[in-house]
Amino acid sequence: MSASRDDRNSARIPPSTATTSRPSRRSVLAGGAFVLAGGLLPGRLGSAAATPLPKATRALDLSSGFMDFRLLGPDKPASRISVYDGTPFKTIRARRGEVLDITYRNGIDEGTTVHWHGIRIQNAFDGIPTLTQPLVQPGGTFRYLVPLDDPGTFFFHPHCDETGQTGKGLAGVLLVEDERDPAFDAEHVLCLKDWRLADDGSFLAMSEPAGASKAGTYGATRTVNGQPVVELEAPAHGDVRLRILNLDSTRVMDIGVDHGDAALIAVDGHALPPILLDNLPDGVWRMGPAQRIDLHIRMPAAGGTVRLADYRQSSLYTFATLTATSATTPAATPAAHAPRPFRPFALPRPQVPRADLKRATRLSFLLQQATDAAVKETALPPDDPLAKALIDSLCVGSTTYWAIGQQSWPTGTRRNLPPPLAEMTTGRSYRVSINNGSRYPHPVHLHGHVFEVINSSTGRLPHHFADTVLVQPDEIVEIAFVAAPGDWVFHCHILEHMEAGMMGYFRVT
Ligand code: C2O
Ligand code: CU
Repeated sequence: MSASRDDRNSARIPPSTATTSRPSRRSVLAGGAFVLAGGLLPGRLGSAAATPLPKATRALDLSSGFMDFRLLGPDKPASRISVYDGTPFKTIRARRGEVLDITYRNGIDEGTTVHWHGIRIQNAFDGIPTLTQPLVQPGGTFRYLVPLDDPGTFFFHPHCDETGQTGKGLAGVLLVEDERDPAFDAEHVLCLKDWRLADDGSFLAMSEPAGASKAGTYGATRTVNGQPVVELEAPAHGDVRLRILNLDSTRVMDIGVDHGDAALIAVDGHALPPILLDNLPDGVWRMGPAQRIDLHIRMPAAGGTVRLADYRQSSLYTFATLTATSATTPAATPAAHAPRPFRPFALPRPQVPRADLKRATRLSFLLQQATDAAVKETALPPDDPLAKALIDSLCVGSTTYWAIGQQSWPTGTRRNLPPPLAEMTTGRSYRVSINNGSRYPHPVHLHGHVFEVINSSTGRLPHHFADTVLVQPDEIVEIAFVAAPGDWVFHCHILEHMEAGMMGYFRVT
């Protein structure tokens, strides 16, 4: 760290440089020079900045802002929620191989960034304030180059004051289609999120110490796509693809169906050999915040209904019903809608760099409560420019409750920025054990990589690819990946845990 001390001064960026002038779209599409906003954080980008930029294939505008939305019911007061492009859970559909050139404009009233969750992206576009880019101030813009190398169900969200901003709704869906995807009769996207609302529709405090230091602060208004429940139809005996996203800040859910033929076909967007839900522990997939699944549902005979629910609480929450209709889709053959054995469709196999498990470097990190005894003194003093820029960004939480590997991300009470959790080498394979030494589950996310979940001490998890993995109390989960260049944050996706210290980063050079 000390060698790059001078470079860190460049992290002290006046907020105004986050606003860049809008480059001409034509020059971008013609392959014109793509200049990183204000030459940001040159020292910190290091070798990542030297990697050639992918060539944009499609330009898009994206903005954030507020809207009034009736979450409490049609005759109850509306809530002022935060959204992208004027719509809750704005969805971008794209094709594998596209490189999106997204000009983002911040229309909310505080600084923010956009993080492309699960996308293997260059570090400069990863959306971490101070570490990879300056904060985008209200009215400011930032351009993101988002290469879509992997098909699947992804999402995007701010990475500053996430409990506040995502808590109020700021999250969008990014669906990457693949020409090899099997043909379903219907597809539905289901975004699960709870809201912390008072009776007058206003927001309650997003975080309470009692929650932040334990399982998290739950919302009481449960929704899917902003409604209490969605009622869908699909052709009798038809094949339905459901893309289910846990966009909640806090809640771990056990997703299952009440009966019928259903299979898990992807996790975090990445295909796995299909598993019948009936063959999963308790017949459900346990999904923490930020995790996604794709399900293949075979519809029953006309008039029959399949119910999807979160079975985690005894008062189960039914969030969607699918009713079989006698109408067929135009493309389907009559034979496709007769009763027949259920053979789940396999999605195209993930094509991500595969770690060399034999030669991989092994690392291990403990997730724990941040008692003073547990957390090491850290390297960077609070007046270090990078530490100071982070604190001044207001993107950090107020109190420290959590740690990873005996280190805590800065907060208002523990202002030191720790050194990287690990220094890694580009292209090398790593096996990382995540050991949950706390009493609460933690969905752990690594930026910029798709990792392989190779084992869990409970034997609960099938082998699969993911960007976020839920680690249960006393469980050890091992992941493996090939390191890509950059500073990549590694954190719990229970947003209050992240903001209360449960975040660190890997420096890959
Ligand atoms: Cu959805 Cu830092 O992540
Ligand atoms: Cu956590």
